[in-house]
Amino acid sequence: MKLRIFTYIPLSILIGINLISCSEADPRIRTNFGETWKFSPGDSATVAQMADFDDSDWRVLDLPHDWSIEGEFSESHPATPGGGALPGGIGWYRKSFELPTLDSEKIFYIDFDGVYRNSEVWINGHYLGKRPYGYSSFRYELTPFLHFGDEQNVLAVKVDNSEQPNSRWYSGSGIYRNVWLIKTGKVHVEQWGTQVLTPVVTEKVAKISINTVIKNTTSEPAYGVLETEIVDQSGKAVLRQKTKYTINPDTTSLIQQEFELENPILWTLENPAMYKAMSVVISGNAKTDLFATPFGIRSFEFDREKGFFLNGKPTKILGVCNHHDLGCLGAAINVRALERQLEILKSMGCNGIRTSHNPPAPELLDLCDNMGFIVMDEAFDMWKMKKSKYDYHLDWDKWHKRDLQDLILRDRNHPSVFIWSIGNEIPEQWDSTGITIAKELAGYVKEIDTTRPITSACNETKPINNIIKSGVLDLIGYNYHHSEFPDFLSTYPTGAFIGAETTSALATRGYYEMKSDSIRRWPVRWDIPFQGNPDNTCSAYDNCSAPWGSTHEESWSVIKKYDFLSGMYIWTGFDYLGEPTPYSWPSRSSYFGIIDLAGFPKDAFYMYKSEWTQEPVLHLFPHWNWSEGDSIDMWVYSNSDEVELFQNGISVGTKKKGPEDLHLQWRLSFSPGEVKAIGKTTGKDDMIATVKTAGKPAKIELIPDRNILHANGKDLAFCTVRILDEDGTVVPDAENQVKFKVAGKGAIAGVDNGNPVSHESFRAESIKAFHGLCLLVVKTEKSKGSIEVIAESEGLISASIILKTK
Ligand code: GAL
Repeated sequence: MKLRIFTYIPLSILIGINLISCSEADPRIRTNFGETWKFSPGDSATVAQMADFDDSDWRVLDLPHDWSIEGEFSESHPATPGGGALPGGIGWYRKSFELPTLDSEKIFYIDFDGVYRNSEVWINGHYLGKRPYGYSSFRYELTPFLHFGDEQNVLAVKVDNSEQPNSRWYSGSGIYRNVWLIKTGKVHVEQWGTQVLTPVVTEKVAKISINTVIKNTTSEPAYGVLETEIVDQSGKAVLRQKTKYTINPDTTSLIQQEFELENPILWTLENPAMYKAMSVVISGNAKTDLFATPFGIRSFEFDREKGFFLNGKPTKILGVCNHHDLGCLGAAINVRALERQLEILKSMGCNGIRTSHNPPAPELLDLCDNMGFIVMDEAFDMWKMKKSKYDYHLDWDKWHKRDLQDLILRDRNHPSVFIWSIGNEIPEQWDSTGITIAKELAGYVKEIDTTRPITSACNETKPINNIIKSGVLDLIGYNYHHSEFPDFLSTYPTGAFIGAETTSALATRGYYEMKSDSIRRWPVRWDIPFQGNPDNTCSAYDNCSAPWGSTHEESWSVIKKYDFLSGMYIWTGFDYLGEPTPYSWPSRSSYFGIIDLAGFPKDAFYMYKSEWTQEPVLHLFPHWNWSEGDSIDMWVYSNSDEVELFQNGISVGTKKKGPEDLHLQWRLSFSPGEVKAIGKTTGKDDMIATVKTAGKPAKIELIPDRNILHANGKDLAFCTVRILDEDGTVVPDAENQVKFKVAGKGAIAGVDNGNPVSHESFRAESIKAFHGLCLLVVKTEKSKGSIEVIAESEGLISASIILKTK
């Protein structure tokens, strides 16, 4: 796959490029406000909201920040192993800043993309408010409380994640998403104030309607013009419209503009072409705001009989569910880490993401827009009825309307968002209030956006489900129950199908249990402690799944077969912290991922790749280090016509997949040496895959995902460490402790090995290899230069690499 390097360009830069002549001051500046905050864990600082509070001994750090990931694993943390077995608690953040006197005529807002959870914010000792839900984005106006000139301003934020468990997975704690300072004119575009609609989309012409809400914050009527330009991918303005407005004092006004664009470049999964609407607000004679709205032009339809169509083309949704943590980096959002996850998924042929089970970081949707993913954007994991003692059910009554509306307002212009999910496995499925609440929630969504279907991810797939009974689901979302998929059309007289959550297969990367065709449904009983393998492993042959789920092959073979099944979101793309089903402590992260927590693909990755891409795939596994005479199943995932297998040079037969098969299998008796697979396809070159018996660990190999990085203090190099024998074969059971030295313009951001049972710190300078692999994540500094990375381990030849930053 060709990797696209996504560069996150701050809005202020985009604005500068596009419309305003550079000599004129930008009417809106959006500054990333994450640098140089003070942090103190605990709640001893009870007066830390006061501007003159002495925070001189507090730790200095940059946001986004997640303090939980810095802690030690323990079974006794109130989050429990289900929440990742890491600490929660309370934390305070403070930031001091000055504003020039010149800016005293401006309007200032502070935007938080997400704070987990119960954040309370003060500016200069003035209380701005509280936001319980840890996944909502929110804004406060700062203007009336600010000082200009020499006097300092102090923003103080208290974060309270002490009452736990409040989540069924790892949440992280702190200001874990970006914070932005917005400076604009007194007449400006309201927060999330633009809505770009494309009611007609053909290859010849697109009709574009843009609704813009303008806010007049002055005590005088505002008279002016809204000038909207549509700018294509190359930065060229292709359409422009001016509309006069009058807005009463202290109110907002909605302005509608209609455009017709000839020969639009449609947003597709292969070429996700983006446009931008640039809204210039002119009040009197001055430009008082300039606001950019990225959007895409695409049409889509969920047909009950024929499935999903994108721009008229039948398209199966090949998606995954993910939680928001980024493995060893915790919940602290990092654009490169998210982009890497999406690149890995894209290379598997995945085209969809479900933001299970909460509003995502805005940057995830920007990436999905730009990389071509079909997003199911989900609001809640519970409504009024709880799933854990301190979860969002406690905030439901006061906050659910606002949290849902804000999600829809925030995300409605993203072309990657195709489906709104009002909830996951909501207990009210079995309660009559499920009908009324579902209707209420759907009403809020449709008031703001009627262009996307509403679903809810239902684990009650029968018509007794009150949420389905409410009649508001355009898409009926099944969680699991894959054997009922074929009956969908006869079960439900209306609505289209989506596999909102499927599979829940379990695997430890690199661990295999014979016989590969004997299936384990683990845990045997979900409500009693599970005795599985003493080392808390799950076999990676795709022969282990949760009893409510299925193996990868079981679900995919049904979805593949029927056109009316519009697609699936597999539980999960990546392993995540918390929910270590089928085990509990000492496990602390999940086994569900197609890719492990460190980002290393498990074998099932290649099953999907062989089915979902046109790239040649020949994946032979497991490794070839066993005891003499062991009966070993060799599997091949491949899209070649046929595969011939050789053991120590002797053919053991050629096999072809039948129409229903998703893998090939040979049962061999182990003797040291090698197994080779040759994949043959008429008219194409043969593919060869070999596994060899590895000797003792002898040396380290260090492979960075990129050699040249941005010197911006945020960019990351993901360096894979492989433990090799003398001949360069990965040693499949190697557990060597690998120590890292990082010198120059970078530092260690995290280490991991994908082992759900490891209690080594993600922030350490060393980590054990797990099944021959581990990972080092290096973060750049803000000044350019080079970074030297050394990986050492006792008794092994060390490895070193040089990364450049610019
Ligand atoms: C589902 C649930 C997910 C996760 C999964 C594990 O029922 O929606 O959040 O818990 O089970 O199999």
